[in-house]
Amino acid sequence: MKFHLIAPNDMASDVFRISLSPATLSFDAVAGDTLLTAAAQAGIAVPAACRNGVCELCEARLISGKAMNTRNQHTIPIAGRLMMCRTLALSDLELEIDAVMAAGDNQPRKFQAKVVDVRSISHDVYRVELQLPRRRELSFHAGQYLSVDLPDTDPCYFSIASSPSAELIELHIQATPEWVSAQKVIDALTSGEDVTIELPHGRACLASIPEKPLLLVAAGTGFAQVKSLVDYLRETSYDKPVKFYWGVRRHEDMYLRSLAQRWQEEWPPFTFLPVVGDDEDNEWSGHHDQLVRTVLAAGMDWNNVEVHASGSPAMVYTLMDALLEAGLPQTAFFSDVLEYAPRD
Ligand code: FES
Repeated sequence: MKFHLIAPNDMASDVFRISLSPATLSFDAVAGDTLLTAAAQAGIAVPAACRNGVCELCEARLISGKAMNTRNQHTIPIAGRLMMCRTLALSDLELEIDAVMAAGDNQPRKFQAKVVDVRSISHDVYRVELQLPRRRELSFHAGQYLSVDLPDTDPCYFSIASSPSAELIELHIQATPEWVSAQKVIDALTSGEDVTIELPHGRACLASIPEKPLLLVAAGTGFAQVKSLVDYLRETSYDKPVKFYWGVRRHEDMYLRSLAQRWQEEWPPFTFLPVVGDDEDNEWSGHHDQLVRTVLAAGMDWNNVEVHASGSPAMVYTLMDALLEAGLPQTAFFSDVLEYAPRD
C-alpha cells in the first residue's frame, strides 16, 4: 500500500536511509512507501503477516530520526515502538529490530526446536510442526530450507513449508521404514525430545516480492517449498499470475492436492495444474519428461516469467535445459538443486 504525504515541498522525491540494528543492515525508503514496503524492495526480510498494524510482527523501536504513523499521522517519539507496515520515514532513521535478514545474507544458526506435531498425511509423507523458543529471533525467506541435525549422522535437509511469518515451522518429510535415513528422522521427531535444527539455508528463495509472473514447478515433496512461497505471496500485495505445476507418479502421491485446489479457488492470480503419471498411457519415465513436456506446452512468455523449481536433480535439470532452450534467461531460473547438486 502506498501512502501519499501532503507536504509543501515535494517529499515524493525524497529518499531516506533507514539503518537497522543490531543486524547492521540499511536500506533506502522513498517518501510515501511504508518502511515494510521499502525493506521488502531492498530484499530485507522483516517478519510480517497482517500488514495493517495488528499482528505486531514487524515491530521496531525508533532510535533516531523522524517517522510518522500512517494511521493517526502522529510522529513517533524517540525510543517509541512502531510497526514498520504503518510507518513512513520523514528523515533518515535508526531502528532497533530483531529477526531481520538481508537477501543472500544466509548465516545459518542452530536452534533447539520443540516438536509440536508429527502427522502422517499420506501413505509416505509426514507433516511436521516445530516451535522455536524465541521465534522472533529467527528470520528466513520464503522458499529456504533447514537441516535436522541428529547425533552421529549427516544433517538431513528439508524445505521449510511455512511462510516466514508463521509462528510454527512446517516440514513435509517423505519416509518409509525401508528408507533408513528418513525413517531415523521421523523416529527422532516422534521420540518426545527436542531436536537441533540449523537454518536458514538456500538462495533460491523470495527475498522480496517478485516483479514478474511466476511459474512454480514441483515434483513430489518439492511441494513443501511451493507452499512456503505461496503462503508468503498471499500475505503480500502480489497480484501477477502464478502458475503451479505439481508432478507425481501416482494420484496418491499428491498428498495435499486439496490445499492446492483451495489456493486456486481463493486466490485469483493462482492456477494449479496437477500432472499425474497415472493419467498417461505410457510408463512414467523416471526422468519427469511428462512434467517437463506439460510445462513447456504452457507456451508462456519466457522473457517475462520467473521460474522456481523444486524436486530431484534429474527433474530440475531436465526442466532447466528445456526452458533455457525455449528462451528463458538463465537468471530467471531458481532452484536449490543448482546449489546443492551443481553440474560439472
Ligand atoms: S503489524 Fe502486522 S505486519 Fe506490521
